[in-house]
Amino acid sequence: MNHTYRFPEEFVWGASTSAYQIEGAHQADGKGESIWDRFVRWDDHVLKGYTGNIACDHYNRMEQDVSLFKKLGLPYYSFSISWSRILPEGRGKTNKKGLDFYDRLVDSLLEAGIHPKATLYHWDFPQLLQDLGGWTNRDSTEWFAEYAGVVFNKLADRVKFWATINEPWVVAFLGYAYGVHAPGICDYSQAYQSAHHLLLAHSRAVQVFREGGYNGKIGLILNLNGLRPASEKEADIRATQRVHDETHALFLDPLFKGEYPQALFDFIGPHKPKIRSNDMKLIHQPVDYLGLNYYNTDLVAYDIHSGLNKARIIPYSSPSWGRTEMNWGIYPMGIKSEVLYIKDVYGNPDIYITENGCAMPDNPDESGFVADWDRINYIKSHLHALYEAIQEGANLKGYFAWSIFDNFEWERGYGQCFGLVRVNYDTQERIPKQSAYWYQNVITNNSINM
Ligand code: FCB
Repeated sequence: MNHTYRFPEEFVWGASTSAYQIEGAHQADGKGESIWDRFVRWDDHVLKGYTGNIACDHYNRMEQDVSLFKKLGLPYYSFSISWSRILPEGRGKTNKKGLDFYDRLVDSLLEAGIHPKATLYHWDFPQLLQDLGGWTNRDSTEWFAEYAGVVFNKLADRVKFWATINEPWVVAFLGYAYGVHAPGICDYSQAYQSAHHLLLAHSRAVQVFREGGYNGKIGLILNLNGLRPASEKEADIRATQRVHDETHALFLDPLFKGEYPQALFDFIGPHKPKIRSNDMKLIHQPVDYLGLNYYNTDLVAYDIHSGLNKARIIPYSSPSWGRTEMNWGIYPMGIKSEVLYIKDVYGNPDIYITENGCAMPDNPDESGFVADWDRINYIKSHLHALYEAIQEGANLKGYFAWSIFDNFEWERGYGQCFGLVRVNYDTQERIPKQSAYWYQNVITNNSINM
């Protein structure tokens, strides 16, 4: 039977992108080099040698893109700012043209009646600062604070919704432990040190925001996969706990409790990061919300040959679902469990789902249109799970679909399409998919039917 699930009156609806994934214009108007500009040139590190040099060419098509967002009825748009567009050397000299781009973007959004939400860091670290050690260098926290100050100074009069850092786990572990992302380093010690500095950098940016007297919300975005032991065996349960500690507690505990998970640090032994005496207090300062990116759930099995955690990850889908094009398991109830876990363990903070969506095998028809009912079903089921989380008392305040556009999916390049809007990379034509119209309806009605 069809039922309507209505979201709270003030529920926020939006869609997200990030700078490197859509902007292109990698050398335009005085932009400095970022670690992704460098990484994509490294043989065999990105599928088929794809780069974000042009991507969706959003830098040159921003006004038309904003008009499209308006046409699609998007109330909020979440974008990230390219650090090396603003400070080509990472610090010191600012680049007026880079700042102007975001200035125009914000004005265009506001003129279109769309609320801007900005993320300071979505993975494109300035290369010149990477040469000094990147996030492993403790000074990165001050470099980030300086950059945050420049951005707030220019945009915080109009942007009232901020995120400091997107997915510090991905930055630290895919960037510094597994070498899958820029800067492509494989060293657990560097990963843990980076994780600590990322949390500190986040806190310094929050401090700069508070001290600047800006009004608006600021928070941190975490990627929280669902995790379940592969069996009831003690070893699998312990392995799951370790993965949980690395991906969840390593960030959530310091943020909300002012301490690191001791069991994890005991386990990782020599890889434990260097921490100074005031650090935990700084990291523990209040945020206005937690951003949660959720895509999938994994089973975890003990495996003595699998990395520091001795844990093997196996995608998990509920019986009625397969996997996405990313080979990620689909388990809609996982998003509810994550939200309720935050609610129960960390004092029920305001939560926004800052990313959720899926890559599916989109097949455009002759006119280029994609009837992506699989994506619609994915999003609808996750929204239903979130509806239940709200009923069960979670302070869930909004949902941002990833992504408004097909875009550069990091090491996988352009093979994976997450967009509600298809991008024809030959012509740069934007063609809304069925899901874009469906989502527009959800927003208008503030509800889903299923
Ligand atoms: C998230 C990233 C985002 C995108 C999605 C699929 O981890 O934040 O940039 O790649 O995954």
